[in-house]
Amino acid sequence: MNVQTPTHSADATTVEAALAADNQQVVDSESATRVAMSNTLLTPRFYTTDFDEMDAIDVSPVRADWDQLIGQMKSDPNKGHFKKNEDWDKVDWEGMDPALKREFIDFLISSCTAEFSGCVLYKEMKRRGSNSDITTLFQLMARDEARHAGFINDALREAGIAVNLGFLTQKKKYTYFRPKFIYYATYLSEKIGYARYITIFRHLEQHPEHRFHPIFKWFREWCNDEFSHGEAFALLMKTDPKLTSGINVWWIKFFLTAVYGTMYVRDHQRPEFHKALGVDPDWYAHSVFSKTSEISKQVFPITLDIDHPRWQPTLERLNKANVDLAAAEKKTGIARLWGKATASARAAAAFVSLYTIPAVRHTVPAQTRLEPAY
Ligand SMILES: [Fe+2]
Ligand SMILES: [Fe+2]
Repeated sequence: MNVQTPTHSADATTVEAALAADNQQVVDSESATRVAMSNTLLTPRFYTTDFDEMDAIDVSPVRADWDQLIGQMKSDPNKGHFKKNEDWDKVDWEGMDPALKREFIDFLISSCTAEFSGCVLYKEMKRRGSNSDITTLFQLMARDEARHAGFINDALREAGIAVNLGFLTQKKKYTYFRPKFIYYATYLSEKIGYARYITIFRHLEQHPEHRFHPIFKWFREWCNDEFSHGEAFALLMKTDPKLTSGINVWWIKFFLTAVYGTMYVRDHQRPEFHKALGVDPDWYAHSVFSKTSEISKQVFPITLDIDHPRWQPTLERLNKANVDLAAAEKKTGIARLWGKATASARAAAAFVSLYTIPAVRHTVPAQTRLEPAY
């Protein structure tokens, strides 16, 4: 049988075909791949888990919602969407302010790595599993993430760079997380991804003069994919009430704090990028946290109190400690050691302070499923 390979990841119907597509076959771009390879607290990581435990999940308790969600994902409304068309305006890379260009490329590389991190994890789950509910879901999600990563690579290629995804798969370090931690972290990263993309999309609808790159026009369909992925993890967590009760509520709080804190610090490293978008990073963070919290009530019994008087000033302290930590890294000898130790201690203290702000409790609705509403 002659299987036709699509020429672009956007048209592929499986993750394998999406990764084999022409637009993924890049010449290695060393500096971009090096950035994508880095493993710090702030850079996207690759994850591995106990795939057998995940394969054993029985989705019967959420069967009706599950089948509806899988049906929606199989119908593939975004097939063919993630590629350049006549809406893709010419990008003036040469004329772009150098600081903005640096931050924007950094944003694209980090987004591409994050998309691809999801792709690798989901693809591996699909490959290792034998439970057809689980493997079907993970195949569909891996397909989407491969398209997203491929599309970002299209954008990067115009600037003369690309992330070598094949190289990353083989060489990037994998962090092991137990399945329940994968659920919390991945659920949150999908939902916060939705909130981030839709917030930028809606803002640029109001202020098209700030749309300095065409990729933002694709953010609505993009975030709808992420929304569905988050829905799938919400349903997975719903299959076992223990995952969202007892001691695990403290883990949920930990992941909420870590994900929100990381986003805040990472975004504040890109002042020119936010200026070009016409977005105040503090406003943006609060807006994204509010949306994510509202959505996560579908499955988490708590949300963080982001209006608590200690929240914002402590985030700022966390950010300052990270700025000082990065500055200390550039020093040498005792100044470096001392600078790193004190900045790390301050960052840890800020994190503990955020973590100990009392959470807001609420009742989780019996009905889990949501539709994108922002
Ligand atoms: Fe994605
Ligand atoms: Fe996703």
